[in-house]
Amino acid sequence: MAAATVLAAVLAMSCCCCVAYATTAATTTTVTAAAESDRINRLPGQPPVNFSMYSGYVTVDAAAGRALFYWLMEASGVPADSAPLVLWLNGGPGCSSVGYGAMEELGAFRWRTCCSWTHQPALATPTPTPPMISHDSYAFLINWLERFPQYKYRDFYIAGESYAGHYVPQLSRVVYRNNKGTENPTLNFKGFMPWLPRGYDPCTELYFTNYYNLPEVQEAFHANVTGIPYAWIGCSDPIYEYWEDSPRSMLPIYRELISAGLRIWVFSGDTDSVVPLTATRYSIDALSLPTITKWYPWYYDEEVGGWCQVYEGLTLVTVRGAGH
Ligand SMILES: *[C@@H]1O[C@H](CO)[C@@H](O)[C@H](O)[C@H]1NC(C)=O
Ligand SMILES: *[C@@H]1O[C@H](CO)[C@@H](O)[C@H](O)[C@H]1NC(C)=O
Repeated sequence: MAAATVLAAVLAMSCCCCVAYATTAATTTTVTAAAESDRINRLPGQPPVNFSMYSGYVTVDAAAGRALFYWLMEASGVPADSAPLVLWLNGGPGCSSVGYGAMEELGAFRWRTCCSWTHQPALATPTPTPPMISHDSYAFLINWLERFPQYKYRDFYIAGESYAGHYVPQLSRVVYRNNKGTENPTLNFKGFMPWLPRGYDPCTELYFTNYYNLPEVQEAFHANVTGIPYAWIGCSDPIYEYWEDSPRSMLPIYRELISAGLRIWVFSGDTDSVVPLTATRYSIDALSLPTITKWYPWYYDEEVGGWCQVYEGLTLVTVRGAGH
């Protein structure tokens, strides 16, 4: 994907905390006042960048007191009105996309050592979910588009990793069903990419956990505006423990979305011991999709980056040497 912005949403529920993300393009479009007040001027320790970032809360259920936190990173050097919007969700269930996705996986920044960042060129990012996630996430997207109307009708993709292999298709189905029959939907959903991940510096988690708990960082992010009575952590135990929305199989959702003609990319690291490639291949086999292009290597920098198989309705991409 050419574009690169990250939208992260942290769900701030009474006992839990979740996240979601998206990727988009740089824009010179005038922004709404609500978006303007979400603008991130500069995060403590952040290297200078020439793309805009926004973060804040979007209410998803006022009566229940639930809001999702997001982080939008716009890409630089891509046309403002054509780059796709990508929502990235991390797994768990209950792990933060702002933590893992943005800081360790596909965000614009990467930790070098404690408190020093390097700027990554254009990239997207990943998130988690409680029982209500699909509906809260959908409400989030619709409300978020009111704050960022320049992304209405923009090509939109949903991506995520690990346990998000559940909620990416689940949310995709909610979006697809809500759009069905609408000629020109504002949430212009094109496809989804469950990503079944890779390696990273194990200390990163410690770095970003310390970082996100700094009061000046929370202020720069417009986060924790209600004075949440516990510290920020990467993964929420309550969400993990009370998670119920776990259908035994995602395959019926895949069947529905494949027949809807959506574009689906399944990514998998070939040394992932948590979500092993073999299991992913068995699951895809169970869909009995006709093969269009058989197993073939793809290259990065003259080296085999992994392998690919194109099915009717779905593409499987592996990443060589990548773990969870
Ligand atoms: C963005 O900034 C980097 C360095 O900070 C620079 O190399 C690059 O040319 C800039 N890109 C644009 C589109 O301005
Ligand atoms: C929210 O801020 C309070 C201080 O006002 C702090 O004690 C608490 O750890 C923070 N919680 C989160 C989740 O960041």
